[in-house]
Amino acid sequence: MENFKHILFDEVFVFGCINSTIAKSQKLLKEEQANGNFLVVSRSQKSGHGRNKNAWFSPDGGIYMSANLLGLSPDPALTLFMGISIHKAIAESFPYIKKDLHIKWPNDLYLDGKKICGILSQHLPKYRYHSFGIGINTNIDEFPDNLKNIAISLFDSLHFQIDNKKLITKIFDIFSHDFPKFIENGLDLEYYNKFSLLKDKEVTIDTDFAVYSGVCRGINKNGAIVLQLPSKMNQPFFGGSIVD
Ligand code: BTN
Repeated sequence: MENFKHILFDEVFVFGCINSTIAKSQKLLKEEQANGNFLVVSRSQKSGHGRNKNAWFSPDGGIYMSANLLGLSPDPALTLFMGISIHKAIAESFPYIKKDLHIKWPNDLYLDGKKICGILSQHLPKYRYHSFGIGINTNIDEFPDNLKNIAISLFDSLHFQIDNKKLITKIFDIFSHDFPKFIENGLDLEYYNKFSLLKDKEVTIDTDFAVYSGVCRGINKNGAIVLQLPSKMNQPFFGGSIVD
């Protein structure tokens, strides 16, 4: 990954092994060492983490990065837009697996029903940045016992080594190309709903205030998941965890 460059980023920081690309990004911001849009990539992480303080398995071979974009307004749809961009990048690079690659609201990617990519999206108003922490299981040939049934890698499915640099380039090519359209017209609902893991399924969501169950009708333009509740009302939810 040395000398990685992409037109979207003014600066790219590449590391061998750090605690977390998220923690490193925030340190760079705090110490005023980063300028403009910047990307932090690491070959492995000692304490990678995801939503709800879950650990993110981060050995050599996977993609671990934080894309920090300056001046983006807070928008819950942004994180879904990044999920769509990564879905497209993987699907276009490996069309053979496209039909088995799904997006689980809000932005996790699943291959054959197991998680292959997680995105932790954070708005950092103090610095005027929006940060996407992205983990993709590319060249991981073995998962620990607690993940074996719930995680999968591209290598598991394709049986050849993935070029991480090429895939990262493709992700940000697609993100940059589709971004003006996203700003103008909002999310590509047709694409998202076509590859949605939850659409038309019975789903339970925990919003921290209450737990709701209903049939998932897809997402709306603002990135909310829409559940048809037993009362037949279509209720959008902007936040919450899907209960498995
Ligand atoms: C999730 O599914 O809960 C989100 C997982 C995000 C993992 C990535 S790996 C790169 C970046 N650094 C971290 O510590 N986490 C994110």
